[in-house]
Amino acid sequence: MRFLLLLLLILHLSHSSAAGAISEHRALMAVKSYITDDPRSYLSNWNATTPLCSFTGVTCDYTGRHVTSIDLTNFTLSGTLSPSFAHLRFLQNLSVAANQLSGPIPKELSALSDLRYHNLSNNVFNGSFPTQLSQLKNLQVLDLYNNNMTGELPVSVTELPNLRHLDLAGNYFTGHIPSSYGLWEHLEYLAVSGNELGGKIPPEIGNLTKLQQLYIGYYNTFEGGLPREIGNLSELVIFDAANFTLTGVIPPEIGKLQKLDTLFLYYNLLSGYLAAELGTLKSLKYMDLSDNILTGEIPESFAELRNLTLLQLFRNNLQGQIPEIIGEWPELEVLQLWENKFTGSIPQKLGSNKKLQMFGLSWNQLTGTIPPVVGNLTSLTHILLSHNKLTGKIPASVCNLSSLNVLDFMKNRLSGTIPYCIGNLSSSLSHIDLQDNNIHGKLPENFVKHCKLQSFRINNNHVEGLLPRSLGNCKDLHLLDVGKNKLHDTFPFWLGNLDQLQVLILRSNRFYGQVNSSDIAVSFTHLHAIDLSHNNFSGYLPTNFFENLHAIKEGDGKKVEPEYMKDELADGRVYYVQGLSFTIKGFEIEFQELLTSWMVIDFSNNQFLGEIPKTLGELHSLIVLNLSHNCLKGSIPSSFGDLSKLESLDLSSNKLRGKIPMELNNLGFLEVLNLSHNYLVGPIPQGKQFDTFTNDSYTGNLGLWGLPLSKGRDNDEKTPAKFDRDDDDDDADELNWKFSILMGYGCGLVLGLSMGYIVFTTGKPWWFIRSYVRVQQRFAKWYRTKLLR
Ligand SMILES: *[C@@H]1O[C@H](CO)[C@@H](O)[C@H](O)[C@H]1NC(C)=O
Ligand SMILES: *[C@@H]1O[C@H](CO)[C@@H](O)[C@H](O)[C@H]1NC(C)=O
Ligand SMILES: *[C@@H]1O[C@H](CO)[C@@H](O)[C@H](O)[C@H]1NC(C)=O
Ligand SMILES: *[C@@H]1O[C@H](CO)[C@@H](O)[C@H](O)[C@H]1NC(C)=O
Ligand SMILES: *[C@@H]1O[C@H](CO)[C@@H](O)[C@H](O)[C@H]1NC(C)=O
Ligand SMILES: *[C@@H]1O[C@H](CO)[C@@H](O)[C@H](O)[C@H]1NC(C)=O
Ligand SMILES: *[C@@H]1O[C@H](CO)[C@@H](O)[C@H](O)[C@H]1NC(C)=O
Ligand SMILES: *[C@@H]1O[C@H](CO)[C@@H](O)[C@H](O)[C@H]1NC(C)=O
Ligand SMILES: *[C@@H]1O[C@H](CO)[C@@H](O)[C@H](O)[C@H]1NC(C)=O
Ligand SMILES: *[C@@H]1O[C@H](CO)[C@@H](O)[C@H](O)[C@H]1NC(C)=O
Ligand SMILES: *[C@@H]1O[C@H](CO)[C@@H](O)[C@H](O)[C@H]1NC(C)=O
Ligand SMILES: *[C@@H]1O[C@H](CO)[C@@H](O)[C@H](O)[C@H]1NC(C)=O
Repeated sequence: MRFLLLLLLILHLSHSSAAGAISEHRALMAVKSYITDDPRSYLSNWNATTPLCSFTGVTCDYTGRHVTSIDLTNFTLSGTLSPSFAHLRFLQNLSVAANQLSGPIPKELSALSDLRYHNLSNNVFNGSFPTQLSQLKNLQVLDLYNNNMTGELPVSVTELPNLRHLDLAGNYFTGHIPSSYGLWEHLEYLAVSGNELGGKIPPEIGNLTKLQQLYIGYYNTFEGGLPREIGNLSELVIFDAANFTLTGVIPPEIGKLQKLDTLFLYYNLLSGYLAAELGTLKSLKYMDLSDNILTGEIPESFAELRNLTLLQLFRNNLQGQIPEIIGEWPELEVLQLWENKFTGSIPQKLGSNKKLQMFGLSWNQLTGTIPPVVGNLTSLTHILLSHNKLTGKIPASVCNLSSLNVLDFMKNRLSGTIPYCIGNLSSSLSHIDLQDNNIHGKLPENFVKHCKLQSFRINNNHVEGLLPRSLGNCKDLHLLDVGKNKLHDTFPFWLGNLDQLQVLILRSNRFYGQVNSSDIAVSFTHLHAIDLSHNNFSGYLPTNFFENLHAIKEGDGKKVEPEYMKDELADGRVYYVQGLSFTIKGFEIEFQELLTSWMVIDFSNNQFLGEIPKTLGELHSLIVLNLSHNCLKGSIPSSFGDLSKLESLDLSSNKLRGKIPMELNNLGFLEVLNLSHNYLVGPIPQGKQFDTFTNDSYTGNLGLWGLPLSKGRDNDEKTPAKFDRDDDDDDADELNWKFSILMGYGCGLVLGLSMGYIVFTTGKPWWFIRSYVRVQQRFAKWYRTKLLR
């Protein structure tokens, strides 16, 4: 009897545990049935014969009976979440992160009373947050980052007493941050960034005294600035309130955050002075306050920020001296202070910092010299000092910067010669920009064998002598601008091997000799902008040369979107080619950025002889052609009628004879025509574009008749400027009329007289990749979906 009872008991026990297991087994099979796609077959062993605890991604407790953890992270699953999860009563960890799961979060999950860790991030769950989940009293981590959740920020979550980590960032939550969010005692991590939140940031947030990380920026539009109570978050380590039109001043109470390591307030509308209290943040490593409207000087208290690794204050209205002490900070790697109003000199002690990698002081009013100690900064990859008032020589010590990638000293008052040794650096250096200085002497001749140079710009200096033949080692060179100097050399055919060369500017030098060459191997296949004007070139126009300009011939016949000419730097950032200038209609115009579809040939003001080759008519993508002020004879080739993109044609001051070919009337985009001072005869074509040209186009051709005598000088309204501007630079307005150069592309060519610096469109440099993966990478997918709306 006792035996029987025992047997019954055993049977009962085994049956009930088996029943329990089966029900969890069944629950998981139900979970699987909600998965519509499992391309990598991660769930293939979730079947009737495999024991529950051997299911991929499933972990059981020590008895082997109950599922305690399910981890389906990055399984590339599609489908929805099954309410049957509710039967897994022992579940503590549930991660379905990084899949393509959609639909609502089932309210049945509220039955998982043991759940501690719940990661739903990086999916497309939608709907509002189910209030029932406030029953998950053991929940410590809730990660909903990067989903499609809508509605107000959930208030119910404040009833989760053990919550430490709450990530609601990268969704479509609306409304404001509830003041009850200040009630959590244990919260260490709060992210609500990248939603559509508004209203005021509640001061109650200052009650989260355990908080270590706070993310509130990006896409939100909070009003009223940062509450002073932020200063009560004494455990805060990371504070990111970047990019959400934050106004007001930086509250001095931030100085109380003694554990703060990262302070990101960039891309806001913060005004006022840099609070001296910021200098008390002794743990600070990364401070980015760039892109605000901060004024005043860098406070002396900043001297204490000895652990700073990154300091970005660019694009503010800061003034005064750059504190000398910055040069001594031992950890500094990135210093970007460009586009402010700093005066005084570059810190002389910079050289003591061996770690500095990026040093950007462009667009300030700095004076004095470039201190030779920069040569001690052997980790430096970028030295950006353009648009200041620096004087003196380029220190030879720059040649010690063996990691240097970009050297930009454009628009200063530097004199002396270019250090000869700079050619040695060209195995790392990709950009040298010395445009608009007072540099003289010869160009260095020793560009190394595997030269990495992509652009070399020395326009508007006083350099003389020859163009270094060793530039031919720089196979990546695509921009060479040596205009406005005193170079005395023949045409550099040897550059023809550089098949990346896109822009060649030799303007206003003393180049001489023929450009025509019998060397058929020479081919400037990618060249699309060439300016030889104001030199002493002679001989016939180079027919071979024109025939090999494939970029201009075929151009964008492929109908690709024209793009700004840019270079990828070694670190993945983008360097836009800026501040190049060309002469159009007698004006020298500086281009803020240069489009690859900008096709120009300027051979003007030389001594070219002979006839204009007919083959020029094959350069179908040409936009500007200037052959003026030469000794060209013969007639205007009728093939010019094929230059269908031409907008500016200047053949003035030559010895051209014959009639104006009627074919020119095909040039529907022609806006500037100058045929003056030739020996042209016959009728001026009528109609179309020709109705817009004035007398000036034809003067000095006594044989022409039918002149548009009635036309005034300024008839430009007749040619609608289809030029599409999208910035609000007033300077550019008056230049508008000169072009419709890119009409037909519907794409803005910004003709600014301003701005010629490196733009980092990717904005935040590698810190985002290295130390700040969350924002850069985690937002990636979400940017796509969200920005396309
Ligand atoms: C269950 O999955 C295992 C492992 O993939 C497999 O060997 C077994 O054949 C499957 N059983 C059934 C009934 O599909
Ligand atoms: C749940 O996850 C946490 C952290 O990932 C881990 O420490 C813990 O052991 C897991 N618990 C179970 C039951 O798997
Ligand atoms: C996701 O899985 C794929 C393929 O197994 C892998 O290449 C990728 O690195 C994983 N992603 C993450 C974030 O773990
Ligand atoms: C959630 O999962 C993602 C993987 O997509 C991971 O990067 C993240 O750190 C997890 N969240 C938490 C709080 O552990
Ligand atoms: C959630 O997304 C699905 C399709 O992805 C859609 O049918 C449904 O209406 C959405 N629900 C909400 C609440 O937006
Ligand atoms: C997520 O939401 C965005 C914006 O509402 C929508 O365009 C997108 O289709 C949604 N994705 C899914 C999978 O529902
Ligand atoms: C929370 O903060 C508010 C405002 O800062 C304060 O008035 C309130 O007393 C605080 N509540 C608690 C529970 O500390
Ligand atoms: C700021 O956020 C906008 C979207 O609101 C985004 O397009 C832009 O790239 C962000 N800028 C920076 C500097 O983070
Ligand atoms: C919180 O911040 C406010 C404003 O700065 C301050 O008046 C108050 O004393 C602080 N509370 C605590 C507990 O530090
Ligand atoms: C500065 O950094 C060093 C090394 O990371 C650390 O030991 C030191 O405590 C930091 N100083 C302060 C004031 O936080
Ligand atoms: C630059 O380096 C030299 C030699 O290494 C050293 O003597 C000098 O003190 C350094 N200059 C600075 C400012 O650190
Ligand atoms: C550059 O390096 C050389 C050799 O390493 C050294 O002798 C010289 O002092 C350095 N120049 C400067 C200015 O640091």
